[in-house]
Amino acid sequence: MNILITGGAGFIGSHTADALLQKGHNVKILDILKKPVHMKGFPEYLDESKIEFIFGDVTDKPTMTYALRNVDVVYHLAAYQDYLPDYSSFSLINVASTSLIYEIIEENNFPVKKVILASSQAVMGEGKYHNQEGKVLFPSLRSFMQLSNAQWDFIDPVTKLPLIMDVSDESVINPMNPYAMSKYQQEMLAINLGNRINVPSVAMRFSIVQGSRQSFYNAYSGACRIFSLSYFLKKQPTLYEDGNSIRDFVNIHDVVDALVLVMEKEEANGQVYNVGGGNPYTVLEFAKAVAEVFGSDLSPNIPNEYRFGDTRHIFSDISKLKSIGWQPKRTIYDSIKEYKQYLEQQTDIKDILEYSEKHMRTLGVIRRIKK
Ligand SMILES: NC(=O)c1ccc[n+]([C@@H]2O[C@H](COP(=O)([O-])OP(=O)(O)OC[C@H]3O[C@@H](n4cnc5c(N)ncnc54)[C@H](O)[C@@H]3O)[C@@H](O)[C@H]2O)c1
Repeated sequence: MNILITGGAGFIGSHTADALLQKGHNVKILDILKKPVHMKGFPEYLDESKIEFIFGDVTDKPTMTYALRNVDVVYHLAAYQDYLPDYSSFSLINVASTSLIYEIIEENNFPVKKVILASSQAVMGEGKYHNQEGKVLFPSLRSFMQLSNAQWDFIDPVTKLPLIMDVSDESVINPMNPYAMSKYQQEMLAINLGNRINVPSVAMRFSIVQGSRQSFYNAYSGACRIFSLSYFLKKQPTLYEDGNSIRDFVNIHDVVDALVLVMEKEEANGQVYNVGGGNPYTVLEFAKAVAEVFGSDLSPNIPNEYRFGDTRHIFSDISKLKSIGWQPKRTIYDSIKEYKQYLEQQTDIKDILEYSEKHMRTLGVIRRIKK
């Protein structure tokens, strides 16, 4: 089949391209090689002799029309992401590009058979909880006041006891920031426009994806990058809050398996799927796993800081995706080992950790608790 991957020069897109090429498909990539993700330009892991590369913007109609010609399947992975204050860009890029795909397919009568969209666990916000009496609750962002008093957990306003985290399935929708809101709009557009113009579409809500080729310069790209760089540079990694936030890490190759599976399975059409790791970890547990892989006995630094906007805990229910034959097969150790190998192949990385930390402080995301 002829497959277009928007954002195919990035982390998830390039691994998806590799898997599709291996299965004998023709792959076209549309990517604008955005900074800071691609600080060094065209990535060395893409082989231009095996793919068709189109340099361009997913919001540009002529470019997208050109890219969508003679395509059977579209993976729409390009997105505006990160901790960024230009809120309008999330809609202007993520939402507009998704509508544009269906607009172009319909206008040109292109015979696209399926669109697969990258959504995010962020759509579920703080996720699902229950109180001591079993009442289900979907809490909102924690306030500055709460966080500056180092009160990390959600407290039931009635019983004053801590809320208990539940696993969140696809019915949980509570986006808390412009990125998450744009991802939910993308899901709605894909499923509804797909139904309307008869282009089966699938939305994949990824948890935190980990493995090689994750950008070093993207401040939001997560714990694996930050902790690995810290241990690589023999520095203590910094953990926010108390280190006990629960996270959901999924290996890149499990994500690629899921992306290929929903392309092949008709029963996936019109569905939204969580794509998570299947095992919850606290940030501290994850940092310890990174230390183990790097052979370091440095324990993490927990300096009474927090990042405003971080979720306290979130963990995805993956039973829906499992019911169509997917299973996460790799562990966090597999992800960390692969990332370590990738890191060791790089040059000029001494400045990277400082770059991302400085970026976060400039944006005012990292804050200290009141003494
Ligand atoms: N990595 C994760 O943990 C994670 C988690 C949840 C959701 N997602 C989603 O998965 C998708 C892929 O993420 P990733 O981690 O591979 O990110 P990435 O930054 O590595 O890749 C994204 C690619 O999109 C390209 N791009 C950005 N804006 C573009 C534009 N306007 N036109 C054309 N290309 C553009 C970038 O150059 C980059 O190559 C995104 O939609 C993201 O929101 C990722």
